[in-house]
Order: sequence, then C-alpha cells, then structure tokens
Amino acid sequence: MAASTTSLVGRVALLTGASRGIGRAIALRLAQAGATTVLAARTKPELAAVAEMIRTSGVEALTIPTDVTDDQQLETLVNTTLTRFGHIDILVNNAGGGPPRTPVVKARVKDWEWTVRLNLWAPLVLTKLALPSMIARRRGTIVNICSSAGLVGKPGEAAYTAAKFGVRGFSQSLFEEVREYGIKVSTIYPGYVDTALIPPNRRVDRSKMLSPEDVAQTVYEVVVSSARCCPLEIILQPQHDPVKT
Ligand SMILES: NC(=O)c1ccc[n+]([C@@H]2O[C@H](COP(=O)([O-])OP(=O)(O)OC[C@H]3O[C@@H](n4cnc5c(N)ncnc54)[C@H](OP(=O)(O)O)[C@@H]3O)[C@@H](O)[C@H]2O)c1
Repeated sequence: MAASTTSLVGRVALLTGASRGIGRAIALRLAQAGATTVLAARTKPELAAVAEMIRTSGVEALTIPTDVTDDQQLETLVNTTLTRFGHIDILVNNAGGGPPRTPVVKARVKDWEWTVRLNLWAPLVLTKLALPSMIARRRGTIVNICSSAGLVGKPGEAAYTAAKFGVRGFSQSLFEEVREYGIKVSTIYPGYVDTALIPPNRRVDRSKMLSPEDVAQTVYEVVVSSARCCPLEIILQPQHDPVKT
C-alpha cells in the first residue's frame, strides 16, 4: 500500500451514503488527499454539513441529494456529476442498511424489496452508469462497502445478507470484465463499525468496534494502491471482539 501522503488532486470521487457514518468518513478522507467529492444521500442538511467541512479545507465538494433506491435519481446523479466535472475516477457504493432483525417467516416482502434495492440493486445500477466514463479513460476505482454479512449468514437478516452476498458476486464478475481497462474493483467487508446503523445494545461494547475512519483509511489505501495490483477483497474485523460473552 502507498504512503498516506499520495495526492488525489484532480480526481473526482462519487460516494453514496456520504451524509454520515462510514460514507462521511470516506468523503472526508478522500477530500483530505485533495479529491473532488460528489456527495449523495437523502438528508440534505447532513450532506451540506459534510460538504462545508470539505470546502473549508479548500477542496471542492458537490452535494446531490439522492435516494439510491430510485433508478431515475441514480441517472441524475451520474449525469449531473459528468456535466459538472467531465469524468468519474472513484465510485464508492456505500449507502446501505436494513430493517430491524426479523425472521424470514415474519418478514414483510416490501422490506425485502427495499433492502435488496438499497444494498444490491443500487450499486449495480450506479456502477453500470459510471463505467463508460472510466472505460473511456482506461482508469478508475470502484469500491463496494459490503459487510461481514456478505460472507456468513446470520439469523434475522436474511435479505440484507442475500443482498451483500450478491454484491460479492457482482464485484468478482465485474473485476474480470474491467481489469483489462485498468479499472480496480474492490469489496470491503467490515465487521462491527461504530455508526448509527448499530443501535444501542448492551451485548456489544462500542469501544471495541471499528471506527468509520478505519474503513475510510482502507478505501483511501485501495485508491492509491499500485496500478499493477487490485486489492480485490478486504475483510476488516475489530481486533477485539465487541460482542460480550
Ligand atoms: N456499521 C456497521 O457495523 C457496518 C458493518 C458492515 C457494513 N456496513 C455497511 O456500511 C455501509 C454504511 O453504513 P453505516 O454504518 O455508515 O450506516 P449509517 O450511519 O446508517 O449511514 C448510512 C448511509 O446510507 C445512506 N442511505 C441510506 N438509505 C439511503 C437511500 N435510500 N438513498 C441514499 N442514501 C441512503 C444514509 O443517508 P440518508 O439517510 O441521508 O439517505 C447514510 O449516509 C452500509 O452499506 C452498511 O451495510 C456497516
């Protein structure tokens, strides 16, 4: 991995779920290295606050309020980015989440549809829309924020797990298609990260979780890795188990 000083000045990074949590941390980390950031999520005030932090450090940031479960809004997101900046160098498919844990037999099909749209369908569609810009320039990095739920199934989150497993399959296939263009595809599988996605729970010690900045630093290291190699899959686990026994 390259040193933490590698500059991203001149690169355009499009990030979903950039309003808080892991996506916010990734946006700040890439901007710290000089990347122009395009910030997408639904909550306008939170997006604006992240953009303001970035601009204060003299780096350009554009907010595009977007519900990623809506294909039309994904098209607008990519078209607006390309109109403004001309290209996309880095795509981070980060927006995600799921309903409260519910067994399959009790789950609502409507919740499944939303979960799959948010965690799987949106990354597929957004990647398809951003790819031509990368292929034309024969460079680019696509980072998919998956989950340890993309590697091992757990009870109560079957649809979320199915979607995250799907991200893994998509990423592996995509890499085989685009490696010849110099495009990196990297999937990151974090364990517990201390964000609002993990509700307060007496069984989990938050001080032992990963921080959003741990994931953000990993994304940065993927982006600045040598053009010869692609960090295809990265599993990030907290050093000490946050689940109390
Ligand atoms: N926290 C963990 O322990 C953990 C572990 C493994 C993987 N992950 C993954 O990491 C990613 C980020 O999670 P996080 O922990 O940072 O969660 P978070 O703090 O809840 O943030 C989720 C982000 O996704 C955005 N988002 C949600 N629904 C959206 C929609 N329909 N359209 C656009 N944006 C939407 C949210 O913004 P708005 O609400 O403003 O739209 C927010 O910016 C997710 O893919 C998650 O599955 C998290």
